[in-house]
Amino acid sequence: MNYELLNDPNTGKYFVLISILFFAGIEIVLGHYKNTKRTKNVWIFEGMSFIGLSITSFIALGGTIYLGTLFFPNALNSLSHWSLWLAVPFYMIIDDFAQYWYHRYAHESHWMWKHHRPHHAAEEMGISATYRNSFIYYLWLPNVWWAGICTFLGLIPATIIGLIIKQLIVASSHSTWKWDEFLYKIKALSPVMTVVERIIITPAFHHAHHGKSKADGISDPNGNFGNAFSVWDQLFGTALYTRQFPTDYGLPTPAKDNWAAHLFYPFIKSKQPNSEISKGFVKEKTAENEPILMKLEAGTHLWCQCGFSKTQPFCDGSHHGTKYKPIAFEMKKEREVKLCNCKITKTGPFCDNSHLDIKA
Ligand code: FES
Repeated sequence: MNYELLNDPNTGKYFVLISILFFAGIEIVLGHYKNTKRTKNVWIFEGMSFIGLSITSFIALGGTIYLGTLFFPNALNSLSHWSLWLAVPFYMIIDDFAQYWYHRYAHESHWMWKHHRPHHAAEEMGISATYRNSFIYYLWLPNVWWAGICTFLGLIPATIIGLIIKQLIVASSHSTWKWDEFLYKIKALSPVMTVVERIIITPAFHHAHHGKSKADGISDPNGNFGNAFSVWDQLFGTALYTRQFPTDYGLPTPAKDNWAAHLFYPFIKSKQPNSEISKGFVKEKTAENEPILMKLEAGTHLWCQCGFSKTQPFCDGSHHGTKYKPIAFEMKKEREVKLCNCKITKTGPFCDNSHLDIKA
């Protein structure tokens, strides 16, 4: 093992760059960029966003070392005697647990969603879509600070090893090189893949998180929040395994925001009036107390549970930035239904007369 490299905090950064080039190379060789619909605006944003993450990592590393030395001078390098067998899991488990909740919070908070929304505005997957977030999102990203703290505590080799493992998983789960797709098709490997996908984030698992709508039965944009390990999703009830890949990626109501608004919101706002990051945009509840009686055709429908949809009682994707998900339900044949519109029914999507309690 090259201890010099493992004790240089820059090794992690170099590896991130090498891995990006590696996955980009595979995607190019596989011809995934031949028909790309990425515009110049998208390329600029994806490049700038990566620079944003690099800057915040630099701030976090310098900041933790400066503050640590100032307030906890005795803690400097205090864990440097830890073995890698203890230090790597210590770094990785806390890192990934923190990111699961930060990521989930970014989906469930109106304000924070606007900083993570650029990531989901990507209509194509690929290595360059990995680092699409606002500058503020990256500034508060617990992982950059945790890496700084571990470095301060003397766990540099463990942080580098953990970062390398994590980077490989995260980059591959965003890549258009779906290494797991082929393995799912081999029946004999199915039990192995069950174990693999219960431990790490596979491309299928993460692509489902980027799918446009739950209606396809494959996607769950408000689920599969994990970054390196899928254990948190299993533990907290947000995991969906289908072993399939969505055909449509992005936001249900896309807006063509400028890269600067994506990156620097709220300091720069979008000029697109339908965009959540435009000036004066307010998410308003449109739910009403009375149920809706309607004839519904056969097929899959998505019932809005958050109350913000403009196409009530159906979901239009406005639940992003709330803790609610739409409920997908199947109609075998066309029939008359009474759908809840007050959103407090216990038999969603159908009305159970709970709206009568609101009036009382
Ligand atoms: S808009 Fe999707 S659940 Fe309300």
